Amino acid sequence: MDWKNSDLISMRGVGRDAIEKVLRGAARYDAAAREKKFLKELDGRLLATLFFEPSTRTQFSFRTAMLRMGGNVIGFSDAQVTSVSKGETVHDTMKFIEGCADIVAIRHPNDGAAQVAADSCGVPVINAGDGANEHPTQALVDLFTMQKEKKAIDGLAILMLGDLKYGRTVHSLLHALCNFNDVTVLLQSPPALKMPSELVHEARGHLKVREVEKLDFSDADVVYATRIQRERFADPDEYKKYSYRIDAEKLRELKSDAVLLHPLPRVGEIDPEIDSDARAAYFRQENNGIPVRMAVLKEILG
Ligand code: NCD
Repeated sequence: MDWKNSDLISMRGVGRDAIEKVLRGAARYDAAAREKKFLKELDGRLLATLFFEPSTRTQFSFRTAMLRMGGNVIGFSDAQVTSVSKGETVHDTMKFIEGCADIVAIRHPNDGAAQVAADSCGVPVINAGDGANEHPTQALVDLFTMQKEKKAIDGLAILMLGDLKYGRTVHSLLHALCNFNDVTVLLQSPPALKMPSELVHEARGHLKVREVEKLDFSDADVVYATRIQRERFADPDEYKKYSYRIDAEKLRELKSDAVLLHPLPRVGEIDPEIDSDARAAYFRQENNGIPVRMAVLKEILG
């Protein structure tokens, strides 16, 4: 895959070279930011952030990334203030936006909406989360975090837990991990929230995937916890049945050099009491969102 001017809708089909290019760029921006050096490499370029669903980290890190690179940002985070509230389609919205911006980051509650947006406009579109489908830039943030924390992604055993059915971040991450060598993915979730079988099947051609019944941290180098996606259930109270909590007691099972990740927001899955444990890496992970998105914007627009 060549990043230049391309859309980023799915991690399926993004190869190792393309991933490593972004990880190298992110490392460079990360180091520059530590020295408070902001590289104005996208001077005068314009990003539109179209957020039809709530977001804190993804939206702010896209905006911050563009501004730190000298670009500008327009957008909305509440579709109620746009013509969408009058019934306008994503297609028609995009036809207008392509005349305004050089690149678009879109988040939408419907699976497939980012692809529709990309098909409707002539400027590159980045999927910032489409329903329960995918969230490719989060997967790049997750890979960057694993590499930073564990030095290499090859050879890791990664336990994914929580809502693997509706959690879009784990779908993108599973695709992305298929590029690495000797990776084992352990999947643990309530039976009703299992990783979609077609994704498991696809991944099995590239990595070892094991669905496990018992929640046991002891074999994992990385534990990747996810939120039960309340907003995706037809009955909004159903999600309560699936709540779980990682606390100090549970953390005792985790290897001393393993890390606990979570794309955040957390809503009770992780006891704040363990935040100070060195293995709790989710706040470091969220901060990686900015350099990784800087690298993605630079590769596509550069
Ligand atoms: C995730 C998302 O929106 O998919 N958050 C994020 O982007 N960091 C995870 C979630 O909402 O549970």
